[in-house]
Amino acid sequence: MSKQHLLITGVSGFLGSNLAYALKDRFDILGVYHAHPFAVSGVSTCQADLASPEDCQRIVREFKPDVCLHCAALADIDRCESAREEAYRSNVEATRFLTDALLGARCKLVHISTDAVYGGEEGDYSEETPPKPLNYYAHTKLLAESEAVRCPGSLIVRTAFFGWNLGPGKKPLSEWVLGELAAGKTIRGFTDVITSFLYMFDFSDLLLKALESDLVGIFNFASADSISKYAFARALARRFGYDEGLVVPASFDQFPLKARRSKNLSLDTSKLTRELGISLPTVGQGVERLFFDRPGRSG
Ligand SMILES: NC(=O)c1ccc[n+]([C@@H]2O[C@H](COP(=O)([O-])OP(=O)(O)OC[C@H]3O[C@@H](n4cnc5c(N)ncnc54)[C@H](OP(=O)(O)O)[C@@H]3O)[C@@H](O)[C@H]2O)c1
Repeated sequence: MSKQHLLITGVSGFLGSNLAYALKDRFDILGVYHAHPFAVSGVSTCQADLASPEDCQRIVREFKPDVCLHCAALADIDRCESAREEAYRSNVEATRFLTDALLGARCKLVHISTDAVYGGEEGDYSEETPPKPLNYYAHTKLLAESEAVRCPGSLIVRTAFFGWNLGPGKKPLSEWVLGELAAGKTIRGFTDVITSFLYMFDFSDLLLKALESDLVGIFNFASADSISKYAFARALARRFGYDEGLVVPASFDQFPLKARRSKNLSLDTSKLTRELGISLPTVGQGVERLFFDRPGRSG
């Protein structure tokens, strides 16, 4: 039987590259990059600007996707604050034009949104919690959701994730922490920034289950528990055999950044666990998988 066609936007990014790698044996994949050419063995890739309606129409017409994982975005929170036009273009207009192209194409759209659409004060947000974006990035991601829902049967995934970067982009948090610890450097870990982020390949496993169950609507994709960035960095140090004492506690308020941030982004995942009939991995279990999947591991 021929494989389903899977279109992955943002294939040169952190999430898109990992999903292409994780799903390449299950699907016939076309990955779209924009400014950074990228290849994954067993995956076709092409260049396109999704903020161009013509590019979106062409890709959908020629590739005829059954499923589209829309990972592309301008995801640099501080850059979104200063380059608002670019952020609007890449996050809102690109989603609008992609959705327009998919209308009538009988394709399942999975739109990757963010935990940052929630306010970040109380935490434990469910999909029913009214969003309260604190920065321009989150604002554009929320607008993008309202574009993606126009595609019948679309799934909107509010999430955050950690893992190994396969693409050309900058190192994600876990890799940066491990690099600093390996160099014997002291790092500050925020005790007041809470996340429920998921290990990347736990994310791809969940995504497959969500596709099998044809989930529709907004879902939080997150770990079963939540953790401060400080505790996370210490968990990484412990698991990878570095000195935990190199991670010192700090408050996020000591480091003013360009864009405001939501501090408590712990997510309630009961809707997802109920709909899929499964229990979700904890952050600690994700760290175990991160360790197991480390680059250069033998055996
Ligand atoms: N990283 C996180 O911690 C996090 C947390 C929550 C949610 N998210 C969401 O998850 C998704 C993936 O994030 P990520 O960390 O993988 O981002 P990333 O590494 O910065 O990658 C972004 C991708 O989007 C592509 N892109 C941007 N503008 C484009 C355009 N106009 N046309 C075509 N492609 C374009 C980029 O292509 P080029 O590089 O080739 O230009 C790149 O492949 C995003 O929707 C983000 O909002 C991320």
